[in-house]
Amino acid sequence: MTDTILTENHDGVLVVMFNRPDKKNAINNAMWIGIRETFRAASEDDSVVSVLLCGAGEHFCSGVDLASFGEANPEDEHPFESAARAVAEFDKPLVAAAQGVAIGGGATVLFHADIVYVGESLRMRLPFASLGLVPEWGSSYMLQANIGAQRAAELFYTAQWIDADKALHCGIAADVLPDANLYDHAMAKAAEIAQWPVNSLREIKRSLRMHHLGAIDAAINAEQAAMMRQAGSPENIEAITAFMEKRPPDFRKL
Ligand code: COA
Repeated sequence: MTDTILTENHDGVLVVMFNRPDKKNAINNAMWIGIRETFRAASEDDSVVSVLLCGAGEHFCSGVDLASFGEANPEDEHPFESAARAVAEFDKPLVAAAQGVAIGGGATVLFHADIVYVGESLRMRLPFASLGLVPEWGSSYMLQANIGAQRAAELFYTAQWIDADKALHCGIAADVLPDANLYDHAMAKAAEIAQWPVNSLREIKRSLRMHHLGAIDAAINAEQAAMMRQAGSPENIEAITAFMEKRPPDFRKL
């Protein structure tokens, strides 16, 4: 397992932490594999009753590592898809605590958490249009399911920043906490859940999620096909180049 995905079992609550704070916890290929293996193992492990997902340092996660976006993968298929499915199909309660930036995959992963607590510093963004890309992690379905079609469309099309209050009021988050209290609050809730029998919690989650699973699978497949069309496009290359050169992208020149 990678040291960029840290795990620790606290009496039934498995804490899963993105741990690359110098890159605002951007997810590289080793981390995608770590996410996939962690969630698969947590599903099998009866000592895990609930999971708390969080980020090391001041930020939750800045999404896909743009610096390694086009690099060769250690596996035949890009591990992103199998990691996304492992989280989307995870069969035990998933609580998330997000503060600071939550961008791209660092936002869309939250749409699969059963309960999301956010810190007051939250700065969430779905930047796909601004990167010449498309939504991923089944978010083209999950965000609509969570907050409604028009609100989801507005957030995807504008790629606007979403603060903690907006996340709360549109239904992305269950509660807003001062950053200093966020982890303890989320941990206490995950522990409150973990006192109950794991099989009962599994059945409750199955009931809550059964209507969504087919749609999530279809969304991930459609997003994957769209991503293949857009990744490496002139607009995508301009966006990535602009990020690396620390300047705004200029799509009009294409
Ligand atoms: N991929 C790769 N590196 C990233 C990253 C990402 N998604 N997000 C942040 N980083 C790196 C930066 O390149 C920088 O590295 P450096 O110190 O070696 O230059 C470091 O993390 C700190 O980020 P920086 O941009 O200097 O901080 P900031 O406070 O000015 O801005 C963000 C923070 C998150 C708003 C900005 O980094 C950003 O927009 N990142 C891209 C987010 C994104 O589009 N993700 C893809 C989703 S599909």
